[in-house]
Amino acid sequence: MAVVTTIEEFRQQAKRRVPKMLYDYADSGAWSETTYRSNETDFARIKFRQRVAIDMSQRTTNTILAGQPASMPVAIAPIGLTGMQIADGEILAAQAAAEFGVPFTLSTMSVCSIEDVARHSSAPFWFQLYVMRDHDFSKRLVQRAKAAECSALVVTLDLQLLGQRHKDIKNGLSTPPKFTFKNIADMVTKPRWCFGMLGTKRHHFGNIVGHVNGVSDLSSLSSWVGDQFDLQLDWDDIARIRDWWGGKLILQGIMDPEDAKQAGKIGADAIVVSNHGGRQLDGAESSIAMLPEVVAAVGNEIDVWMDSGVRSGQDVLKAIALGAKGVMIGRAFIYALGANGKQGVSDALHIIHKELDYTMAMCGHRDIHNIDRQILRNCPF
Ligand code: GLV
Repeated sequence: MAVVTTIEEFRQQAKRRVPKMLYDYADSGAWSETTYRSNETDFARIKFRQRVAIDMSQRTTNTILAGQPASMPVAIAPIGLTGMQIADGEILAAQAAAEFGVPFTLSTMSVCSIEDVARHSSAPFWFQLYVMRDHDFSKRLVQRAKAAECSALVVTLDLQLLGQRHKDIKNGLSTPPKFTFKNIADMVTKPRWCFGMLGTKRHHFGNIVGHVNGVSDLSSLSSWVGDQFDLQLDWDDIARIRDWWGGKLILQGIMDPEDAKQAGKIGADAIVVSNHGGRQLDGAESSIAMLPEVVAAVGNEIDVWMDSGVRSGQDVLKAIALGAKGVMIGRAFIYALGANGKQGVSDALHIIHKELDYTMAMCGHRDIHNIDRQILRNCPF
């Protein structure tokens, strides 16, 4: 296999190897995909200041994320249906992350369950919670994450309704995919994926199947979200979740300084500036454009991270320069997972780390903690 040196090559490979409906699920944004695109194009508008004749030896990207040592300020973002991009996907990605020394976040909408990932990963991982109408079920999820010794709870706040992604509707997205003529015709061109799926029993939403009564259609993400997610979620509910959990709490999906201040009042340990990879409110600003405003509002009291649009270690460094203490990568790992499983995720983390480390050096720094806006030139944000 040709050597892969960029995340974009993993994207192209994933497109060839993963069934269309599942590749499209990962790769699409809401409605016109304007926000999805601007997450990436806004990163490209940021330029570095090149510095020379500065000692580049003994560099470090080591840091602490939610109280946990990490080999770089990067965590794997929660992605629903990760175990459909490749068989046992959540377990493979969690193992690659643990070996690299960065946190892995398991989505509520994962295929492998919390307990299953805990059994197969050598390091504690983070659990991402979607808040359900059935608060008892949400509470049980939190308790299961505690019992599995998850080291942080990530509550995603921007998905009470599922943003409309046209391709998912047209493809009839379901988990597992239904055996329609169109799907079978597509799957025969993806033999690796098919053999993997034949070799595993993990085909359903593992955190949910067998844990909730009276759910009629579990195969469809959109009907599950429509039936089950709590439209009335408010800050009192988030405070309740904080109390159920009692550990490190990260609130994801904050795009406004006022919401960031609320998160600070609730006592969150960190917030993630995120527009859900452009999958929710199309027409919102890019995450990187909003980051400086949020940092200015709450950066002294709370750790601010970001996600959405990060496709390289250079993007990670730009976010750190604008005040992020950490960055979550979603598509950058899911493409690599679909392309080449655990090895793919491991390679993607190495690619991102090298880009981050070399760029830091060429900007005149040896320690990630010394990075600030000074490494950028005429930054538009
Ligand atoms: C769920 O997290 C989604 O973005 O589809």
